[in-house]
Amino acid sequence: MAQDDLLMPVPLPPLAQEGLGESFHLIKLWEEPNPKATLAAIAPGLRFIATGVPILTEGMSYPITAAFLARFPKLELVANLGVGYDNIDIAACAARGVVVTNTPDVLTEETADTAFGLLLCVIRQFPQADRYLREGKWLKTAFPLTASLRDRTMGIVGLGRIGRAIARRGEAFGLKIAYHGRKAQADAPWPFYERLEDMARACDILMVSTPGGPATRNLIDAPILDALGPQGVLINIARGSVVDEPALIAALREGRILSAGLDVFAGEPEIPAELVAMDHVVLLPHVGSASHATRDAMSALVVDNAVAFAAGRGPVTPVAETPWPLHAKAAH
Ligand code: GLV
Repeated sequence: MAQDDLLMPVPLPPLAQEGLGESFHLIKLWEEPNPKATLAAIAPGLRFIATGVPILTEGMSYPITAAFLARFPKLELVANLGVGYDNIDIAACAARGVVVTNTPDVLTEETADTAFGLLLCVIRQFPQADRYLREGKWLKTAFPLTASLRDRTMGIVGLGRIGRAIARRGEAFGLKIAYHGRKAQADAPWPFYERLEDMARACDILMVSTPGGPATRNLIDAPILDALGPQGVLINIARGSVVDEPALIAALREGRILSAGLDVFAGEPEIPAELVAMDHVVLLPHVGSASHATRDAMSALVVDNAVAFAAGRGPVTPVAETPWPLHAKAAH
């Protein structure tokens, strides 16, 4: 039996390519000699796309825009590698009855570990201490004393799966926890702040774990940073777009906040030179989920989603905006 076409606009990891290749006729757009002609040829009948966020696709990006979607009248599924899906116009998918899946759960604990490791590195300056030792400076004098995690309150911006996993770690470390999001969550035992600025004022660690995209663009701006204050620390493991980067750089330069730990950047992998030059911040190259085990599990989940969907069993992890089966039934 002929296999269905599945369009892969950007290179997913080998495990995802192999797994999808067993069940679909894969069209690897980046390998096509004439991608435009290939897209034109498959557009009328294409039902499945698998794509990913740039950090997982060798840095290549192929935003799934409304205009792109409009070319595929029969499209049913966009399976995304990554828990975030700001690379996809989700409203356009919902309007067209296209189901979108992501890769939640399998990366929750890994990403929360990264967030917490970054927080400890920022507060206790472990990367700086490592550099200090290697530069031979310890032979002359001890590394300077640092700030402390003791007696701090961590405000979590976006209490989703990853935010909750970070909150649990925070409690284990003796932190007080608060959160801000669209609404209070009945089963969350921590104080909820409707206004982000109020929470920033009440805490001295701001942990950003909210989705990216238009709804959260520049959510962390100068007034929020000023509310966080001179002892405050900003950690961002979400998306660079959530933070107003020039405002953050100014706040760091002027000592209006203490420090920042960033795993994500607005124009990554390009990083503002001012940040790179600052010794008191900790910068990571978007490694939140970057372990072998977790990346393999994410690849496997993309494959499971596409295979189950194509077999009529429904997607494993559809995103909230395109629930299954209600969404698909209503649309098709
Ligand atoms: C990575 O950033 C992801 O969204 O999984």
